[in-house]
Amino acid sequence: MRLLPGDLERVFFTDSGSVAVEVAMKMAIQYRLNRGEQTRTKMLAFQGGYHGDTLATMAICDPEEGMHHLYGAALAQHVIAPLPVDEASTARFYSLLEQHAHELAAIIVEPLVQGAGGMLFHPPHVLQTLRAAADRYDVLLILDEIFTGFGRTGSLFACQQAGIVPDIITLSKALTGGTMALAATIARHHVFEAFLSDNPEHALMHGPTFMANPLACACANASLDLFESEPRLEQVAGINAILTEELEACRHLPGVRDVRTLGAIGVVELERITNPDSLRQTFIAHGAWVRPFRNIVYLTPAFTISEDELRHLTRTIRTVLGD
Ligand SMILES: Cc1ncc(COP(=O)(O)O)c(C=O)c1O
Repeated sequence: MRLLPGDLERVFFTDSGSVAVEVAMKMAIQYRLNRGEQTRTKMLAFQGGYHGDTLATMAICDPEEGMHHLYGAALAQHVIAPLPVDEASTARFYSLLEQHAHELAAIIVEPLVQGAGGMLFHPPHVLQTLRAAADRYDVLLILDEIFTGFGRTGSLFACQQAGIVPDIITLSKALTGGTMALAATIARHHVFEAFLSDNPEHALMHGPTFMANPLACACANASLDLFESEPRLEQVAGINAILTEELEACRHLPGVRDVRTLGAIGVVELERITNPDSLRQTFIAHGAWVRPFRNIVYLTPAFTISEDELRHLTRTIRTVLGD
C-alpha cells in the first residue's frame, strides 16, 4: 500500500465495497470499545452520500434522496448532516458535532464526489474541514474512496487533493480494474494499535470466506502493475480536457442546469429527466451506452478509452440533448 498517503498501512480485504464500508464502521466502533468507550457507536455521514446496499451501509446513505428510504424503519440511526461547504453549513456541522461527539465513532464521507447521489462535487477544503473537526472532537475520519480511488478524480486518491490523510480508507472497484470483486479497508497505524492485544476480544471479528481470494488479488496486482507501466493519470488528464471541451457546449441547451467535470468524470445535470429508460434507449439507438440517472447524464469512461470513442460518447450526449 505504498501508493497511499501517510501511514495507511494495515489492510483488511473483503469482496465488495459495501462490506469494506461495513468493516470500516466496525473498525471505528471497536476502536472505541477496545479503548473502553462503550457509547461511541454512531457515524456522522452526509446528505447526498452513498456507501452501499447492506443493512449497515444503507443506514449511512442519504435517508431521503437515497434509494433506501423504503427501509428507513429497519435501519440503525446515525447522524446525517449537510456537507460543510460554506460558513452556514460549517457552523451547523460543528454544532451537530458538539451535540453528538460523545456518541460518534467516526465521520464518513465520499471525498470530492458523491457518486450515486448525483455526481455531486465539493471542493478539497471541505475535506480539510472534516479532518480538522475529526481531530478536534477525537472522532475517526473514514474516506470512502470506492468510487474516487485509483485516479478517477485526477489524483491517485481524492484525499491527496486536500492534502489530508484519513484514519481509515475504503477501496474497491478500480482496485482490480473492475474485473473481479475485491475491496480493502485500510487503517492507519494508530487504529491498528487499538486492536493489537493479547485479549482475543480485541480482535476485529470479521472473516469473509472470500477475503483476499487469490484470483481477485491476481487481478488487482495486474491492474496495479499497469498503473505503474502505463500513464494512468495522464490519461485521466487527457479525458478531462476532452470532457470539459465537449460537454461545455451543453451548457446553453434548454433544460440543462449545470455542466461539470473532474478527472475522468463528466456530468450534464438537467432540470429533470422524466423518463430515464427512454432516454437510455435513445442513447443506445445512437450507438452509445450512457446510463442517465436522477437528473444527470454522465460519463465515467475507462482510462484506456480512445479519443475517438470518447468523442463519440460526448457528441452523442450533445446530439441527444438537442445541440
Ligand atoms: C462510494 C461507494 N461506496 C460503496 C459502494 C458499494 O460498493 P459495492 O457495490 O461493491 O458493494 C459504492 C458502489 O457504487 C460506492 O460508489
